[in-house]
Amino acid sequence: MKIAPSILSADFAQLAEDVERVADEADLLHVDVMDGHFVPNLTIGPPVVKSLRKRTDLHLSCHLMVDNPGDLLDDFAEAGADGCTIHIELGDPRPLFARMRDLGLRVGLTHNPETPVDAVLPYLDELDVLLFMSVNPGFGGQAFIPSVLEKLAEARTVVDQRRLPVELEIDGGINLETAPQAAAAGADILVAGSAIFHADDPAASARRIREAAWPPKS
Ligand code: DX5
Ligand code: ZN
Repeated sequence: MKIAPSILSADFAQLAEDVERVADEADLLHVDVMDGHFVPNLTIGPPVVKSLRKRTDLHLSCHLMVDNPGDLLDDFAEAGADGCTIHIELGDPRPLFARMRDLGLRVGLTHNPETPVDAVLPYLDELDVLLFMSVNPGFGGQAFIPSVLEKLAEARTVVDQRRLPVELEIDGGINLETAPQAAAAGADILVAGSAIFHADDPAASARRIREAAWPPKS
């Protein structure tokens, strides 16, 4: 039951301050890395992670939306990233899993909304986190794609049956309405960008999302 604010929706000119404002309600930070090729947007890379590392102790999870993630793993590890998540759409991820382990990075695999869950299930044993994209990657603030919930529920069943330690994470369009749906389908980690950083009080917004997803037992 974790909340991962996505800094894509923060103000990059005051990134450390924005992170500080949400830190008390964040279990980890989601860092969207885009190269302008794999997705039609360009964001941040290892130098920003390196700067951020000096300003927060939060787990930094880098979602690599790039054509060549293998070329960047060393730099992200060196910059202080805790984990990297790569896309199955790029082909066989296993060689990169091994590199991530060698570098001490947590291993994440993700897939786009239209990619069948069968494409990622064969790797469950090798993962720390399986990420479900619930928007087409590239931009914050898009509408949640509900069909992803079926894929998430299917993976949840397999993970529970096999008692695997992998965490299931969902990314895109998470807000007060969709967070409970994602939690009910079996998500362990909710990524939220605009719903947190575009709110007047980002920490309160993160807390409300958490409570909507996993109501506190009274
Ligand atoms: C989209 C990114 C997401 C994005 C989510 O490509 O991978 O992490 O920041 O933003 P929201 O929560 O606004 O949909
Ligand atoms: Zn992301």
